Amino acid sequence: MNATNHPGPMPDTIAAIEFDAAAIAAAVARLAREIRRDLAGEPVVLVGVLKGALFLIADLARHFPPEDDVRIDFLAVSSYGNADRSSGEVRLLEDTSESVEGKNVIIVEDIVDNGLTLQYLQTMLASRNPASLRTCVLLDKPYRRAVTVHIDYVGLQSPDTFIVGYGLDYQEKYRTLPYLASLHTWVFEAGALPAAKGIG
Ligand code: IMP
Ligand code: MG
Repeated sequence: MNATNHPGPMPDTIAAIEFDAAAIAAAVARLAREIRRDLAGEPVVLVGVLKGALFLIADLARHFPPEDDVRIDFLAVSSYGNADRSSGEVRLLEDTSESVEGKNVIIVEDIVDNGLTLQYLQTMLASRNPASLRTCVLLDKPYRRAVTVHIDYVGLQSPDTFIVGYGLDYQEKYRTLPYLASLHTWVFEAGALPAAKGIG
C-alpha cells in the first residue's frame, strides 16, 4: 500500500487526489457522530443511492454500535447520460426493498451537484410518509445548483471539478479508488474513454 492506500500507481488520467482515504474516513466518522446525536437512540433506515453511495453507506453504517437499530436499504436512480454534466432527467431504476412509511429515513448520497437528483429523491420519499426524512451526502458541490435542496449532513466540500473514486464514477470507471480525485480535462474530450452509460 502506498501513501494513497491503494496498491499500485495512480492512473495517469488522474490530475489530483482531492481527499485521501484518511480525510474521507475522518469525514465519515464525523457524519456518523452527527447522525447518532440527532437520532438520540431512535431506529433509522439508511437508504443508499446506488451506485455512488456504496462505500459511504458501508463505512457510515459500521460506525453505529450494535445496540443501535440501524437498517440498510438501497435505491437506484440514473441522472447522467454520457456527459460529465447531469441531464436534469432523473429516473428511478430500483426502489427500496422495504416500505419507509413511519420510519426515520436518511438518504445517503455520494454528491450533490445541480440538486435535481436529490430533489427528486426527497420529494418521492417524503410522499411516502416517513416519520422523518434527512439527507447525508459525502460531497457538496454547490457551484451549479438548479434547485435549492436541504442537506442535513455534509461530509466534504467538493472542489469545482468532476470527482471520481470512493464510489463515484466517470462512465462507470474509477469507483474502486479508495480516494477522491479529479481527472485531467482531456479525459472529457470525445473519444478519450470508451462511451458508457453512467448510473448513480
Ligand atoms: P445532480 O442531480 O446534478 O445533483 O447530480 C447528482 C448525481 O450526479 C450524483 O448522485 C452523482 O451520481 C452524479 N454526479 C454529480 N457530480 C458528480 C461528480 O463530480 N462525479 C461523479 N458523479 C457526479
Ligand atoms: Mg449518486
